[in-house]
Amino acid sequence: MQMQPKVGIESISVHVPRYFVDLKTLAAANDVDPGKYYHGLGVRRMAVVAPDEDPVTMAVEAARALIERNKLDGGRIGLLVVGTESGVDGAKPIAAYVHGLVGLSGECRTFDAKHACYSGTAALRMAADWCAVHGTQHRNKALVIATDIARYDEGSAGEPTQGAGAVAMLVGDEPHVLELDLRNEAVFSREVMDFWRPNYRSSAMVDGKTSISSYLSALKNTYLTHRAASGFGWDDYEYLLFHVPFPKMAYKAFRVLCGLERNDNADDQFDLRSGPALWANRELGNIYSGSLYLSLAGLLEKGGRKVEGARIGLFSYGSGCCAEFFTGRLGTDSKNWADKIGIGAGLDRRTELTYEQYLAFRKNGNALACDGSYTGDPQGAAFGRLRKVFYCGIRDHRRMYFVNDNVAQVARNSGIETRSRRSSVAV
Ligand code: COA
Repeated sequence: MQMQPKVGIESISVHVPRYFVDLKTLAAANDVDPGKYYHGLGVRRMAVVAPDEDPVTMAVEAARALIERNKLDGGRIGLLVVGTESGVDGAKPIAAYVHGLVGLSGECRTFDAKHACYSGTAALRMAADWCAVHGTQHRNKALVIATDIARYDEGSAGEPTQGAGAVAMLVGDEPHVLELDLRNEAVFSREVMDFWRPNYRSSAMVDGKTSISSYLSALKNTYLTHRAASGFGWDDYEYLLFHVPFPKMAYKAFRVLCGLERNDNADDQFDLRSGPALWANRELGNIYSGSLYLSLAGLLEKGGRKVEGARIGLFSYGSGCCAEFFTGRLGTDSKNWADKIGIGAGLDRRTELTYEQYLAFRKNGNALACDGSYTGDPQGAAFGRLRKVFYCGIRDHRRMYFVNDNVAQVARNSGIETRSRRSSVAV
Protein backbone atom coordinates (compact mmCIF):
# COMPACT_ATOMS: atom_id res chain seq x y z
CA MET A 1 0.00 0.00 0.00
CA GLN A 2 1.30 3.50 -0.91
CA MET A 3 2.15 5.69 2.09
CA GLN A 4 0.12 8.89 2.35
CA PRO A 5 2.62 11.81 2.29
CA LYS A 6 2.76 14.08 5.34
CA VAL A 7 1.29 17.46 4.42
CA GLY A 8 0.06 20.44 6.38
CA ILE A 9 0.87 23.85 7.80
CA GLU A 10 4.59 24.37 8.39
CA SER A 11 4.37 27.89 9.82
CA ILE A 12 1.70 30.51 10.43
CA SER A 13 1.72 34.27 10.93
CA VAL A 14 -1.03 36.80 11.65
CA HIS A 15 -1.21 40.44 10.64
CA VAL A 16 -3.10 42.54 13.20
CA PRO A 17 -4.29 45.93 11.87
CA ARG A 18 -3.02 48.88 13.90
CA TYR A 19 -6.34 50.37 14.99
CA PHE A 20 -9.33 49.10 16.89
CA VAL A 21 -12.65 50.20 18.31
CA ASP A 22 -13.82 48.92 21.67
CA LEU A 23 -17.29 47.41 21.36
CA LYS A 24 -18.40 49.48 24.36
CA THR A 25 -17.69 52.59 22.26
CA LEU A 26 -19.77 51.21 19.40
CA ALA A 27 -22.56 50.16 21.77
CA ALA A 28 -22.76 53.71 23.19
CA ALA A 29 -22.91 55.19 19.69
CA ASN A 30 -25.61 52.72 18.63
CA ASP A 31 -27.52 53.13 21.90
CA VAL A 32 -27.26 49.41 22.68
CA ASP A 33 -26.53 47.73 26.02
CA PRO A 34 -22.79 46.86 25.80
CA GLY A 35 -23.63 43.47 27.36
CA LYS A 36 -25.20 42.50 24.04
CA TYR A 37 -21.92 42.95 22.18
CA TYR A 38 -19.60 41.76 24.97
CA HIS A 39 -21.62 38.75 26.14
CA GLY A 40 -24.42 38.24 23.59
CA LEU A 41 -21.93 38.17 20.70
CA GLY A 42 -18.74 37.58 22.71
CA VAL A 43 -16.69 40.33 21.01
CA ARG A 44 -14.51 42.81 22.93
CA ARG A 45 -12.79 44.89 20.27
CA MET A 46 -12.85 45.01 16.49
CA ALA A 47 -9.84 45.68 14.30
CA VAL A 48 -10.21 48.63 11.94
CA VAL A 49 -8.07 49.26 8.89
CA ALA A 50 -6.58 52.69 8.25
CA PRO A 51 -7.56 54.23 4.91
CA ASP A 52 -4.13 53.29 3.57
CA GLU A 53 -4.49 49.59 4.44
CA ASP A 54 -6.43 47.20 2.25
CA PRO A 55 -6.65 43.41 1.78
CA VAL A 56 -3.49 43.55 -0.34
CA THR A 57 -1.35 45.39 2.21
CA MET A 58 -2.59 43.10 5.02
CA ALA A 59 -1.76 40.01 2.97
CA VAL A 60 1.71 41.37 2.18
CA GLU A 61 2.37 42.23 5.84
CA ALA A 62 1.34 38.72 6.92
CA ALA A 63 3.41 37.04 4.21
CA ARG A 64 6.51 39.13 4.84
CA ALA A 65 6.29 38.47 8.58
CA LEU A 66 5.94 34.74 7.90
CA ILE A 67 8.98 34.72 5.63
CA GLU A 68 11.16 36.88 7.89
CA ARG A 69 10.28 35.29 11.24
CA ASN A 70 10.80 31.77 9.92
CA LYS A 71 13.76 32.64 7.67
CA LEU A 72 11.97 30.99 4.75
CA ASP A 73 13.49 30.58 1.32
CA GLY A 74 10.90 32.28 -0.92
CA GLY A 75 12.43 30.45 -3.89
CA ARG A 76 10.88 27.20 -2.60
CA ILE A 77 7.35 28.60 -3.03
CA GLY A 78 5.71 27.27 -6.20
CA LEU A 79 2.09 28.14 -5.39
CA LEU A 80 0.46 31.25 -3.89
CA VAL A 81 -3.27 31.12 -3.20
CA VAL A 82 -5.12 33.97 -1.51
CA GLY A 83 -8.47 33.21 0.09
CA THR A 84 -10.58 36.37 0.28
CA GLU A 85 -14.02 37.81 -0.05
CA SER A 86 -12.69 41.38 -0.15
CA GLY A 87 -11.49 41.27 -3.75
CA VAL A 88 -10.24 44.68 -4.94
CA ASP A 89 -10.66 44.02 -8.66
CA GLY A 90 -13.00 41.97 -10.82
CA ALA A 91 -10.16 40.38 -12.75
CA LYS A 92 -6.77 40.90 -11.12
CA PRO A 93 -6.34 38.69 -8.08
CA ILE A 94 -4.91 39.93 -4.78
CA ALA A 95 -2.40 37.10 -5.23
CA ALA A 96 -0.86 38.94 -8.21
CA TYR A 97 -0.20 42.07 -6.14
CA VAL A 98 1.14 40.00 -3.26
CA HIS A 99 3.42 38.04 -5.56
CA GLY A 100 5.04 41.27 -6.77
CA LEU A 101 5.16 43.11 -3.46
CA VAL A 102 6.64 40.14 -1.60
CA GLY A 103 8.98 39.33 -4.47
CA LEU A 104 8.31 35.65 -5.16
CA SER A 105 9.78 33.59 -7.97
CA GLY A 106 8.28 33.82 -11.45
CA GLU A 107 7.85 30.04 -11.39
CA CYS A 108 4.89 30.26 -9.08
CA ARG A 109 1.17 29.75 -9.72
CA THR A 110 -0.86 32.65 -8.32
CA PHE A 111 -4.61 32.99 -7.94
CA ASP A 112 -7.39 33.88 -5.51
CA ALA A 113 -9.99 31.50 -4.12
CA LYS A 114 -13.46 32.88 -3.38
CA HIS A 115 -16.33 31.42 -1.47
CA ALA A 116 -17.11 33.87 1.36
CA CYS A 117 -15.49 32.75 4.63
CA TYR A 118 -14.79 29.26 3.22
CA SER A 119 -12.21 30.71 0.83
CA GLY A 120 -9.30 30.37 3.29
CA THR A 121 -10.07 26.67 3.67
CA ALA A 122 -10.55 26.25 -0.09
CA ALA A 123 -7.07 27.74 -0.54
CA LEU A 124 -5.52 25.59 2.19
CA ARG A 125 -7.06 22.32 0.97
CA MET A 126 -6.07 23.03 -2.62
CA ALA A 127 -2.53 23.87 -1.53
CA ALA A 128 -2.28 20.69 0.57
CA ASP A 129 -3.35 18.52 -2.37
CA TRP A 130 -0.85 20.35 -4.61
CA CYS A 131 1.94 19.76 -2.07
CA ALA A 132 1.08 16.06 -1.85
CA VAL A 133 1.69 15.80 -5.60
CA HIS A 134 4.73 18.12 -5.84
CA GLY A 135 6.51 16.75 -2.77
CA THR A 136 9.79 15.82 -4.45
CA GLN A 137 10.26 18.99 -6.50
CA HIS A 138 12.39 21.97 -5.45
CA ARG A 139 9.49 24.44 -5.43
CA ASN A 140 7.25 22.23 -3.31
CA LYS A 141 5.98 24.79 -0.78
CA ALA A 142 2.72 26.71 -1.03
CA LEU A 143 1.95 30.10 0.48
CA VAL A 144 -1.69 30.39 1.54
CA ILE A 145 -3.02 33.74 2.74
CA ALA A 146 -6.49 34.53 4.06
CA THR A 147 -7.08 38.31 4.06
CA ASP A 148 -10.30 40.21 4.62
CA ILE A 149 -12.01 43.32 5.87
CA ALA A 150 -15.41 42.51 7.38
CA ARG A 151 -17.58 45.56 6.84
CA TYR A 152 -21.33 46.08 7.29
CA ASP A 153 -23.46 49.24 7.13
CA GLU A 154 -23.18 51.73 9.98
CA GLY A 155 -25.77 51.07 12.66
CA SER A 156 -26.71 47.65 11.21
CA ALA A 157 -26.99 44.44 13.26
CA GLY A 158 -23.82 43.19 11.57
CA GLU A 159 -21.71 46.25 12.51
CA PRO A 160 -20.50 44.85 15.89
CA THR A 161 -19.30 41.72 14.06
CA GLN A 162 -16.87 43.63 11.85
CA GLY A 163 -13.12 43.12 11.92
CA ALA A 164 -10.05 42.84 9.73
CA GLY A 165 -6.82 40.88 9.49
CA ALA A 166 -4.75 38.44 7.50
CA VAL A 167 -3.29 35.01 8.22
CA ALA A 168 -0.38 33.65 6.17
CA MET A 169 0.48 29.95 6.20
CA LEU A 170 3.31 28.02 4.61
CA VAL A 171 2.03 24.63 3.47
CA GLY A 172 4.35 21.72 2.75
CA ASP A 173 5.68 18.33 3.72
CA GLU A 174 7.13 19.39 7.09
CA PRO A 175 3.93 20.24 8.98
CA HIS A 176 5.39 21.60 12.23
CA VAL A 177 2.16 23.46 13.00
CA LEU A 178 -0.67 21.21 11.78
CA GLU A 179 -0.48 17.91 9.92
CA LEU A 180 -3.68 17.59 7.92
CA ASP A 181 -5.60 14.35 7.61
CA LEU A 182 -6.11 14.38 3.83
CA ARG A 183 -7.91 11.03 3.68
CA ASN A 184 -10.95 12.09 5.62
CA GLU A 185 -12.92 15.17 4.65
CA ALA A 186 -16.59 16.02 4.77
CA VAL A 187 -17.92 18.84 2.60
CA PHE A 188 -21.37 20.28 2.11
CA SER A 189 -22.70 22.83 -0.39
CA ARG A 190 -26.15 24.32 -0.89
CA GLU A 191 -27.12 27.58 -2.60
CA VAL A 192 -28.42 29.97 0.04
CA MET A 193 -28.77 33.78 0.17
CA ASP A 194 -27.48 34.40 3.68
CA PHE A 195 -24.56 36.77 3.06
CA TRP A 196 -23.33 38.50 -0.08
CA ARG A 197 -21.61 41.66 -1.30
CA PRO A 198 -22.76 43.01 -4.67
CA ASN A 199 -19.90 44.35 -6.81
CA TYR A 200 -21.09 47.94 -6.40
CA ARG A 201 -20.95 47.84 -2.56
CA SER A 202 -18.06 48.06 -0.10
CA SER A 203 -20.23 46.72 2.77
CA ALA A 204 -21.65 43.21 2.86
CA MET A 205 -25.37 42.38 2.96
CA VAL A 206 -26.46 39.72 5.40
CA ASP A 207 -29.56 37.88 6.57
CA GLY A 208 -27.99 37.16 9.95
CA LYS A 209 -30.49 34.63 11.32
CA THR A 210 -30.49 32.66 8.06
CA SER A 211 -26.69 32.61 8.11
CA ILE A 212 -26.68 31.21 11.65
CA SER A 213 -29.15 28.43 10.85
CA SER A 214 -27.38 27.59 7.57
CA TYR A 215 -24.02 27.45 9.41
CA LEU A 216 -25.43 25.10 12.06
CA SER A 217 -27.14 22.77 9.61
CA ALA A 218 -23.93 22.56 7.52
CA LEU A 219 -22.03 21.77 10.72
CA LYS A 220 -24.38 18.90 11.61
CA ASN A 221 -24.19 17.54 8.10
CA THR A 222 -20.40 17.61 7.77
CA TYR A 223 -19.69 16.43 11.32
CA LEU A 224 -21.92 13.36 10.93
CA THR A 225 -20.54 12.59 7.47
CA HIS A 226 -16.99 12.87 8.78
CA ARG A 227 -17.74 10.73 11.82
CA ALA A 228 -19.27 7.98 9.68
CA ALA A 229 -16.40 8.00 7.17
CA SER A 230 -13.42 8.41 9.49
CA GLY A 231 -14.49 6.56 12.60
CA PHE A 232 -13.30 9.54 14.69
CA GLY A 233 -15.62 10.23 17.58
CA TRP A 234 -16.09 12.91 20.21
CA ASP A 235 -13.27 11.68 22.45
CA ASP A 236 -10.72 11.73 19.64
CA TYR A 237 -10.65 15.54 19.55
CA GLU A 238 -8.75 17.44 22.19
CA TYR A 239 -9.81 20.72 20.61
CA LEU A 240 -12.64 21.74 18.31
CA LEU A 241 -12.18 24.90 16.26
CA PHE A 242 -14.88 26.68 14.29
CA HIS A 243 -15.36 29.48 11.82
CA VAL A 244 -15.88 32.48 14.13
CA PRO A 245 -18.01 35.30 12.68
CA PHE A 246 -18.40 36.28 16.35
CA PRO A 247 -17.19 34.20 19.32
CA LYS A 248 -20.67 33.28 20.56
CA MET A 249 -21.17 31.46 17.25
CA ALA A 250 -18.45 28.99 18.25
CA TYR A 251 -20.40 28.32 21.46
CA LYS A 252 -23.62 27.76 19.50
CA ALA A 253 -21.72 25.36 17.22
CA PHE A 254 -20.19 23.51 20.14
CA ARG A 255 -23.61 23.03 21.73
CA VAL A 256 -24.93 21.54 18.51
CA LEU A 257 -22.12 18.97 18.52
CA CYS A 258 -22.82 18.20 22.19
CA GLY A 259 -26.42 17.54 21.19
CA LEU A 260 -25.34 15.16 18.41
CA GLU A 261 -23.01 13.36 20.82
CA ARG A 262 -25.56 13.33 23.67
CA ASN A 263 -23.09 15.14 25.90
CA ASP A 264 -24.87 17.22 28.53
CA ASN A 265 -21.78 18.91 29.92
CA ALA A 266 -21.54 21.52 27.16
CA ASP A 267 -20.33 24.54 29.15
CA ASP A 268 -17.42 22.80 30.90
CA GLN A 269 -16.44 20.98 27.73
CA PHE A 270 -16.56 24.21 25.73
CA ASP A 271 -14.21 25.92 28.19
CA LEU A 272 -11.73 23.07 27.76
CA ARG A 273 -12.00 22.28 24.08
CA SER A 274 -12.92 25.49 22.22
CA GLY A 275 -12.70 28.45 24.59
CA PRO A 276 -8.85 28.57 24.59
CA ALA A 277 -8.86 29.24 20.84
CA LEU A 278 -11.10 32.31 20.90
CA TRP A 279 -9.11 35.06 22.62
CA ALA A 280 -7.70 36.51 19.40
CA ASN A 281 -11.11 36.44 17.68
CA ARG A 282 -12.49 38.52 20.58
CA GLU A 283 -9.80 41.14 19.89
CA LEU A 284 -9.88 41.33 16.07
CA GLY A 285 -13.53 40.51 15.35
CA ASN A 286 -14.55 38.68 12.20
CA ILE A 287 -11.76 38.35 9.65
CA TYR A 288 -13.96 36.25 7.35
CA SER A 289 -11.71 33.81 5.39
CA GLY A 290 -9.04 33.80 8.11
CA SER A 291 -11.19 33.56 11.22
CA LEU A 292 -10.84 29.77 11.66
CA TYR A 293 -7.07 30.12 11.22
CA LEU A 294 -6.95 33.04 13.63
CA SER A 295 -8.43 30.62 16.19
CA LEU A 296 -5.80 28.04 15.31
CA ALA A 297 -3.03 30.64 15.64
CA GLY A 298 -4.49 31.84 18.95
CA LEU A 299 -4.61 28.29 20.31
CA LEU A 300 -0.96 27.76 19.39
CA GLU A 301 0.32 31.15 20.56
CA LYS A 302 -1.17 30.85 24.05
CA GLY A 303 -1.39 27.08 24.34
CA GLY A 304 2.30 26.35 23.78
CA ARG A 305 3.44 22.98 25.14
CA LYS A 306 0.00 22.19 26.51
CA VAL A 307 -1.43 21.77 23.01
CA GLU A 308 1.53 20.00 21.40
CA GLY A 309 0.52 16.89 19.47
CA ALA A 310 -3.22 17.40 20.05
CA ARG A 311 -5.73 16.07 17.52
CA ILE A 312 -8.11 18.85 16.53
CA GLY A 313 -11.34 19.02 14.57
CA LEU A 314 -11.91 22.09 12.39
CA PHE A 315 -15.16 23.38 10.92
CA SER A 316 -15.11 25.93 8.12
CA TYR A 317 -18.25 27.67 6.83
CA GLY A 318 -18.67 30.10 3.96
CA SER A 319 -22.02 31.72 3.31
CA GLY A 320 -23.57 30.98 0.03
CA CYS A 321 -22.81 28.21 1.14
CA CYS A 322 -19.94 25.72 1.31
CA ALA A 323 -18.71 24.05 4.51
CA GLU A 324 -16.16 21.47 5.53
CA PHE A 325 -15.25 19.47 8.62
CA PHE A 326 -11.68 18.18 8.68
CA THR A 327 -9.06 17.15 11.17
CA GLY A 328 -5.38 17.33 11.87
CA ARG A 329 -2.73 16.90 14.49
CA LEU A 330 -0.82 19.84 15.98
CA GLY A 331 2.97 19.81 15.82
CA THR A 332 5.22 19.04 18.74
CA ASP A 333 7.66 21.93 18.48
CA SER A 334 5.86 24.70 20.33
CA LYS A 335 8.85 26.64 21.60
CA ASN A 336 8.88 29.15 18.74
CA TRP A 337 5.16 29.50 18.15
CA ALA A 338 4.63 32.49 20.43
CA ASP A 339 7.38 34.59 18.79
CA LYS A 340 6.56 33.68 15.22
CA ILE A 341 2.79 34.00 15.08
CA GLY A 342 2.67 37.62 16.16
CA ILE A 343 -0.85 38.14 17.54
CA GLY A 344 0.20 39.36 21.00
CA ALA A 345 2.87 41.65 19.56
CA GLY A 346 0.38 43.03 17.04
CA LEU A 347 -2.20 43.71 19.74
CA ASP A 348 0.41 45.53 21.85
CA ARG A 349 1.06 47.98 19.00
CA ARG A 350 -2.58 48.90 18.44
CA THR A 351 -4.14 52.33 18.85
CA GLU A 352 -7.72 52.80 20.00
CA LEU A 353 -10.06 54.93 17.88
CA THR A 354 -12.93 57.10 19.04
CA TYR A 355 -16.27 56.56 17.32
CA GLU A 356 -15.71 59.75 15.28
CA GLN A 357 -12.27 58.57 14.15
CA TYR A 358 -13.74 55.20 13.17
CA LEU A 359 -16.34 56.98 11.00
CA ALA A 360 -13.63 59.15 9.46
CA PHE A 361 -11.54 56.06 8.61
CA ARG A 362 -14.56 54.50 6.88
CA LYS A 363 -15.26 57.68 4.93
CA ASN A 364 -11.64 58.15 3.85
CA GLY A 365 -11.34 54.46 2.97
CA ASN A 366 -14.42 54.70 0.75
CA ALA A 367 -12.98 57.82 -0.91
CA LEU A 368 -9.73 56.01 -1.66
CA ALA A 369 -11.70 53.30 -3.46
CA CYS A 370 -12.70 55.79 -6.19
CA ASP A 371 -10.68 56.53 -9.29
CA GLY A 372 -8.70 59.71 -9.01
CA SER A 373 -8.50 59.40 -5.23
CA TYR A 374 -4.74 58.79 -5.30
CA THR A 375 -3.19 60.85 -2.52
CA GLY A 376 0.50 60.02 -2.60
CA ASP A 377 0.44 60.82 1.10
CA PRO A 378 -0.58 57.79 3.12
CA GLN A 379 -1.98 58.48 6.57
CA GLY A 380 0.13 55.69 7.96
CA ALA A 381 3.33 57.68 7.42
CA ALA A 382 3.76 57.92 11.17
CA PHE A 383 4.06 54.14 11.26
CA GLY A 384 6.54 54.08 8.39
CA ARG A 385 9.21 52.35 10.41
CA LEU A 386 6.84 49.50 11.23
CA ARG A 387 4.82 49.14 8.07
CA LYS A 388 6.15 47.89 4.78
CA VAL A 389 3.43 48.70 2.30
CA PHE A 390 0.73 51.34 1.95
CA TYR A 391 -2.32 51.61 -0.28
CA CYS A 392 -2.68 55.14 -1.64
CA GLY A 393 -5.79 55.14 -3.83
CA ILE A 394 -6.49 54.74 -7.52
CA ARG A 395 -4.96 56.66 -10.43
CA ASP A 396 -5.89 55.97 -14.06
CA HIS A 397 -7.93 53.00 -12.79
CA ARG A 398 -4.80 51.44 -11.24
CA ARG A 399 -4.33 50.73 -7.55
CA MET A 400 -1.27 52.50 -6.20
CA TYR A 401 0.96 51.16 -3.44
CA PHE A 402 3.82 52.82 -1.62
CA VAL A 403 6.47 50.40 -0.49
CA ASN A 404 9.48 50.83 1.72
CA ASP A 405 12.78 51.02 -0.13
CA ASN A 406 13.92 47.52 0.55
CA VAL A 407 10.94 46.04 -1.24
CA ALA A 408 10.49 48.79 -3.84
CA GLN A 409 13.01 47.28 -6.21
CA VAL A 410 11.30 43.92 -6.13
CA ALA A 411 7.95 45.51 -6.85
CA ARG A 412 9.35 47.64 -9.70
CA ASN A 413 10.91 44.57 -11.25
CA SER A 414 7.55 42.85 -11.25
CA GLY A 415 5.88 45.79 -12.98
CA ILE A 416 3.73 46.95 -10.09
CA GLU A 417 3.37 50.73 -9.95
CA THR A 418 4.90 51.93 -6.73
CA ARG A 419 6.81 54.85 -5.33
CA SER A 420 9.28 54.39 -2.55
CA ARG A 421 9.32 56.99 0.23
CA ARG A 422 13.04 57.32 0.61
CA SER A 423 12.75 60.75 2.21
CA SER A 424 10.40 59.83 5.03
CA VAL A 425 11.18 56.20 5.76
CA ALA A 426 14.30 54.79 7.29
CA VAL A 427 14.98 51.18 6.33
N1 COA B 1 -26.76 41.20 27.46
C1 COA B 1 -26.34 39.98 27.07
N2 COA B 1 -26.78 39.35 25.94
C2 COA B 1 -27.67 40.02 25.17
C3 COA B 1 -28.15 41.30 25.51
C4 COA B 1 -27.65 41.91 26.72
N3 COA B 1 -28.04 43.12 27.10
N4 COA B 1 -29.01 41.70 24.56
C5 COA B 1 -29.08 40.69 23.64
N5 COA B 1 -28.27 39.69 24.04
C6 COA B 1 -28.01 38.42 23.33
C7 COA B 1 -29.23 37.82 22.68
O1 COA B 1 -29.99 37.07 23.62
C8 COA B 1 -28.58 36.95 21.62
O2 COA B 1 -28.08 35.78 22.21
P1 COA B 1 -28.44 34.34 21.58
O3 COA B 1 -27.92 34.37 20.17
O4 COA B 1 -27.72 33.38 22.44
O5 COA B 1 -29.92 34.22 21.60
C9 COA B 1 -27.37 37.76 21.19
O6 COA B 1 -27.16 38.73 22.23
C10 COA B 1 -27.56 38.50 19.87
O7 COA B 1 -28.77 39.20 19.96
P2 COA B 1 -29.75 39.30 18.71
O8 COA B 1 -30.94 40.08 19.12
O9 COA B 1 -29.95 37.96 18.11
O10 COA B 1 -28.81 40.16 17.76
P3 COA B 1 -29.09 40.83 16.37
O11 COA B 1 -30.44 40.54 15.85
O12 COA B 1 -28.75 42.26 16.54
O13 COA B 1 -28.04 40.13 15.37
C11 COA B 1 -26.40 38.73 14.41
C12 COA B 1 -27.04 39.22 15.71
C13 COA B 1 -25.27 37.78 14.71
C14 COA B 1 -27.45 38.00 13.56
C15 COA B 1 -25.86 39.97 13.64
O14 COA B 1 -24.83 40.54 14.37
C16 COA B 1 -25.37 39.67 12.24
O15 COA B 1 -26.14 39.66 11.30
N6 COA B 1 -24.05 39.42 12.06
C17 COA B 1 -23.44 39.16 10.78
C18 COA B 1 -23.74 37.78 10.24
C19 COA B 1 -23.05 36.68 10.93
O16 COA B 1 -22.08 36.92 11.61
N7 COA B 1 -23.56 35.45 10.71
C20 COA B 1 -23.01 34.27 11.34
C21 COA B 1 -22.93 33.05 10.47
S1 COA B 1 -21.67 33.14 9.22
